[in-house]
Amino acid sequence: MLAKIISCTPLGVSGLIIDVEVDVSLGLPVFATVGLPDSAVRENKDRVKAAIKNCGYDFPNKRITVNLAPADVKKEGAGFDLPTAIGILAASDYFPDYNFEKTCITGELSLDGSVRKVKGLLPMLIAARDAGIKRFIIPEGNITEAAIVADDIDILAVKTLPDTVEYLLGNAQISRLSLVSIKSDEDNSRHHVDFSEVKGQLHVKRALEIAAAGSHNLLLQGPPGSGKTMLARRVPTILPEMTYDEIIETTKIYSVSSSDDAANAVKMNRPFRAPHHTISDAGLIGGGNQPKPGEVSLAHNGVLFLDELPEFKKHVLEVLRQPLEDGNVTIARASMTLTFPSNFVLIVAMNPCPCGFLGDRRNNCTCTSTQIQRYQSKVSGPLLDRIDLHLTVSALQYDEMSGKEKGESSAKIRKRVNETREIQAKRFANCVGINCNGQMRTREIEQHCVLDTVSSNLLRRGVEKLGLSARGYHRILKIARTIADMDRSDNIQPSHIAEAIQFRRNSL
Ligand SMILES: Nc1ncnc2c1ncn2[C@@H]1O[C@H](COP(=O)(O)OP(=O)(O)O)[C@@H](O)[C@H]1O
Ligand SMILES: [Mg+2]
Repeated sequence: MLAKIISCTPLGVSGLIIDVEVDVSLGLPVFATVGLPDSAVRENKDRVKAAIKNCGYDFPNKRITVNLAPADVKKEGAGFDLPTAIGILAASDYFPDYNFEKTCITGELSLDGSVRKVKGLLPMLIAARDAGIKRFIIPEGNITEAAIVADDIDILAVKTLPDTVEYLLGNAQISRLSLVSIKSDEDNSRHHVDFSEVKGQLHVKRALEIAAAGSHNLLLQGPPGSGKTMLARRVPTILPEMTYDEIIETTKIYSVSSSDDAANAVKMNRPFRAPHHTISDAGLIGGGNQPKPGEVSLAHNGVLFLDELPEFKKHVLEVLRQPLEDGNVTIARASMTLTFPSNFVLIVAMNPCPCGFLGDRRNNCTCTSTQIQRYQSKVSGPLLDRIDLHLTVSALQYDEMSGKEKGESSAKIRKRVNETREIQAKRFANCVGINCNGQMRTREIEQHCVLDTVSSNLLRRGVEKLGLSARGYHRILKIARTIADMDRSDNIQPSHIAEAIQFRRNSL
């Protein structure tokens, strides 16, 4: 007899519906899986057989053929265990009354029949829901990520194979997941650091607030110990809240990248990724045989922080240019081409020279000009051109360091950032793919960054003096727009342009 069960496999940050066809017929007892299975899928025979037997069901001593269709896509992971087991039972006429047409089943089986969680469940659910599937049987371990789309579909979370069988027989009810059970990965109040701990450095804090409010890239440069790392590490505490769509996008990426618990929680807060400088280009951009998202995608909708920038391998930094510009990364492999989103704010920190004291008031730089040049040339012009805000962080004076007065708290700054984001959300309500000023394309810049004569003359002088490219010119306009929004001003004023220009003045 033949049974057809619907299942799904993750494909990039989306999912693909897979039909698991099981044929049980007379013949020598063999169990064959066809349809481009990877090794984890091929091994499922032993798991499925043991699980069915150990749960007390009859495993048919016949010829079993499992086909995963469409056959031209490589199937990955152990998520086909449960649909295969149910398929074998269905083909042995276990469920004469159940209609499998609109039910999607996924789950890994262990030998005793318990159902384990799978990777990439959220993208699969969304893809199958969009294809018209209304009911899902999923592993209980995946419920946190499933709960965020639970409003218009039936999601049933099962613990074991017998749970599933009893449900399909109509003997047991499994309660539907409800939207209420969304659990955040971390509470924002649980940050261990706060901007109030940073003394002085008011202009850097201001720039970080602009970067967070409008999603602009930022470079911090200064002598060792001046607080670059300290400042950048506090950026997550002021990042604006994510919208529902952003939460789904980000959670999808984490869902396909790893199956560990923290990664599978719903991402309510913007990610902050700070990879070490020994990272490879595949680690940064994404890659692998079955391509997985890299750090630029894990930082999607959040911040990518590269500390000690010149220590990164040069070619690793160069591969950053395309995702920075396009907001996504396309990875081509012989078997498939996948696109991962990568819209992030880039924050980089570096010393000005190998010894670190170039331009410092108190210490003399001991580097030769060749050393300085070699050090700075590790960071290329095209990369710097994509960074909007160039900041010099100077060492604190003794009085500032020993002062008792506390800076502004992160909560206060975050509140302002959220308000500025609301203005932008209204502005870009009808623009697909744009949520904030930093993401504006030429057309939006022309529409929303109109200058009066004074501002325009000011900008002309600034651009000519700094020798900026067309990209630099557009980036100044975008920052000026954010500064104007922070000022609650509909039009960009000369003071906004002036502030935006001075953030480019300190470039290397
Ligand atoms: N503005 C500041 N306010 C308070 N402490 C500071 C400040 N700047 C630096 N520090 C102290 O100096 C330490 C080193 O700063 P760090 O950010 O690691 O420097 P950098 O990355 O620039 O080399 C911090 O951990 C902190 O204790
Ligand atoms: Mg540092």
